[in-house]
Amino acid sequence: MSDHSVDCIDVGSENCPCYLALTNDCLICSRLQGREGCDCNWKGVCVYNEFIQGNRRVNNPRADFAAEIVYRKNYLDDLIVLGLRVGKGFAIKASRPGSYVFLRDKNSESYYATPLCVMEANIEEGIIAVAIKIISAKTKTLAKAEGQLMVRGIYRNGVLGIDSITFKHVKGKKILVVAKGIGLAPAILTANYLWRKNRVDLIIDMEKISEDLIADYLGEGEGTIRFIQLNEEGYREDMGELLEKEQYDIVVLFTSDYFLEQIGNMVRKRLPRAELAVSNNFRICCGEGICGACTVAGKDGDWIKMCKCNTNHISHASSYIK
Ligand SMILES: Cc1cc2nc3c(=O)[nH]c(=O)nc-3n(C[C@H](O)[C@H](O)[C@H](O)COP(=O)(O)OP(=O)(O)OC[C@H]3O[C@@H](n4cnc5c(N)ncnc54)[C@H](O)[C@@H]3O)c2cc1C
Ligand code: FES
Repeated sequence: MSDHSVDCIDVGSENCPCYLALTNDCLICSRLQGREGCDCNWKGVCVYNEFIQGNRRVNNPRADFAAEIVYRKNYLDDLIVLGLRVGKGFAIKASRPGSYVFLRDKNSESYYATPLCVMEANIEEGIIAVAIKIISAKTKTLAKAEGQLMVRGIYRNGVLGIDSITFKHVKGKKILVVAKGIGLAPAILTANYLWRKNRVDLIIDMEKISEDLIADYLGEGEGTIRFIQLNEEGYREDMGELLEKEQYDIVVLFTSDYFLEQIGNMVRKRLPRAELAVSNNFRICCGEGICGACTVAGKDGDWIKMCKCNTNHISHASSYIK
């Protein structure tokens, strides 16, 4: 049985109740975990009531739809950006940091579905942009696709600790965003979103990323942009000094697990009161809390599905750094 103390990224959204309610595995609702009493901490619309009122069905299940490829730009031999016409409503939902979609070629089987972050959501045009690092079977197939791609989404859990970025009191907070490699794609969506209300400093490691991509998609706002090679030893000192000088309220990391741990530890040590949000680097296959690809063992011996679980507590967010 799931532990109701974890937060679910979909609770209270248009995708709640989800498939987990059907089998008494809801992450939030004690009734939908098979217990008699109501003792959840969720302060929004009652999930159990929604489930009963909705005839015990999944609300608004996410389904594949065909989206026109409106543009494709090759930035490097193994880095492309695709623009997909998804409609205004979908683009609005995709504009929130942490949004990602599953994409597959329409002639490919469902197991080719690839999780990819939204890098830009153009609401006026109803178009989203995704940056794809071409590696192996799934991404090579996507890169060759023509005409249309099948899209499923929107999924919300691309950033663990997302509440620290999207909560209403974020206005005026001083924020540092660190991105390396393809982590730049979700970093661009996040920085462009936060720049509307905040000062955001960026540290970018350009390894395997193109300057043109930054020029095309990164907007403008108050803050500095530094280009640092995280693989070089000297970065720790520079970053440590920067953290202490600037006293950031929030640090957001879009890097590999190795640097999440290294930089995450540095942030905890130098800025113990700062909130930390990190890219969700778990293996994600269904995104619905069903397949188990993203499951990790929790501290109490329970199982946590990292495609659904999120948290706004720094201690939890940092414990998710593998
Ligand atoms: C929430 C999320 C957002 C992502 N956003 C982007 C993005 O914006 N741009 C981008 O280029 N890549 C992104 N990725 C990674 C992308 O999904 C993988 O690179 C892709 O699935 C690799 O498939 P492949 O067949 O080409 O290569 P493979 O050889 O199968 O995999 C290459 C690497 O990707 C990992 N990987 C494979 N499948 C998955 C999966 N389902 N979930 C997570 N990691 C996987 C492998 O373990 C390996 O480390 C994201 C992953 C997640 C979970
Ligand atoms: S990706 Fe399937 S359970 Fe999380």
